[in-house]
Amino acid sequence: MRQLYFDHSATTLPDNAVIAGMMPYFEENFGIPASIHSLGRKGKAAVESAREEVAALIGALPQEIVFTSGGTESVNLALLGAASGLGAKKRIITSQIEHPAVLRSCAYLSQIGFNIVYLPVNKKGQINPQDLADAITADTGLISIMQVNHETGVLQPVKQMAKLAKDNGILFHTDAVAAVGKININVSELGIDLLSLSGHKIYAPKGVGALYIKSGIKINPLLHGGHEEHNLRAGTENVAAIVGLGTACGIYSAKITQETEYIRLLADNLWGKLDKRIDGVRLNGHPEQKLPGILSLTFSGVSGESLLINLDLEGIIVSAGSVCSTGSLETSHVLLAMGLPEKEARCTIRISLGRNNTVKDIETLADAVTDIVGRLK
Ligand SMILES: Cc1ncc(COP(=O)(O)O)c(C=O)c1O
Repeated sequence: MRQLYFDHSATTLPDNAVIAGMMPYFEENFGIPASIHSLGRKGKAAVESAREEVAALIGALPQEIVFTSGGTESVNLALLGAASGLGAKKRIITSQIEHPAVLRSCAYLSQIGFNIVYLPVNKKGQINPQDLADAITADTGLISIMQVNHETGVLQPVKQMAKLAKDNGILFHTDAVAAVGKININVSELGIDLLSLSGHKIYAPKGVGALYIKSGIKINPLLHGGHEEHNLRAGTENVAAIVGLGTACGIYSAKITQETEYIRLLADNLWGKLDKRIDGVRLNGHPEQKLPGILSLTFSGVSGESLLINLDLEGIIVSAGSVCSTGSLETSHVLLAMGLPEKEARCTIRISLGRNNTVKDIETLADAVTDIVGRLK
């Protein structure tokens, strides 16, 4: 049975060019950047070239990029690393809809004496910058707001909020794991200090990511040891994975707009079909301020879990609930924050499209969802 994959917000199939680019670093070029011999220099050159590609994708300077083991580590390094230098400024502002990487880092910071404020969202899943303005106090040291929500695809007004942070002398971090490669990002235009990204969401391997740290911003490392990554992330670099991340970013730099438009076409096609065929289906989130490729769909009276399992039996992969964080079907905190009653939130699935999906795949998906929802109702 052919498998159709629509869970690109969870992870992506590494691109063939990414795998091909990585292979030499598992084989003949296995040196590490810390070694000064020729094999080590090859490893170093590969890491530095990947740094340039990651930086180019987000409008940063190569020296502003630190490689990590993924989105979660980048977020931890940003939040814990910044918080430990805040001194008397004990207030940190974030939102209710962040990924657990941010929420649990903040929960930890609260245990060690920080005061965390969680901003709400409206029914469309967006934070109101005025709520941020109202929450800022003289002892606020750090703000962390995601750029795109991973469950609904809703874009947050990060530029406006980063300006509020800057005007008040507060550090601003954005979790851009769900945004990178989907929208054009320029860190200077956004006016942010720290940005987290992850490889496996953009057709690179799992276990690699990066943190952008604006020149001049000081944060403390989480890992102590050698001098790797400008003394900010000790430990021998995962050279092959870093090369994979660089290659994936290079591919995106060349075709981000084209790919987004293609995915928009697929998404409009899918939503058009489902909306016409299924009574009471709802697309959650802001109608315009959202990525086209993430569809959070509520089918009243139909359990998201049952729908997911039935689709899986037909070889179609989607997700339900906050799968990325736990692998379990806990009710989505994002949908609850948007005001969906728990019962409705449990009748929701997330379909996230990717570059390998085709118009024919969308037709198969729409037919299967219509058929299964009809049966389960
Ligand atoms: C918005 C967001 N932030 C952070 C992460 C964590 O990234 P990683 O899986 O690379 O640790 C994810 C993963 O799903 C995510 O969607």
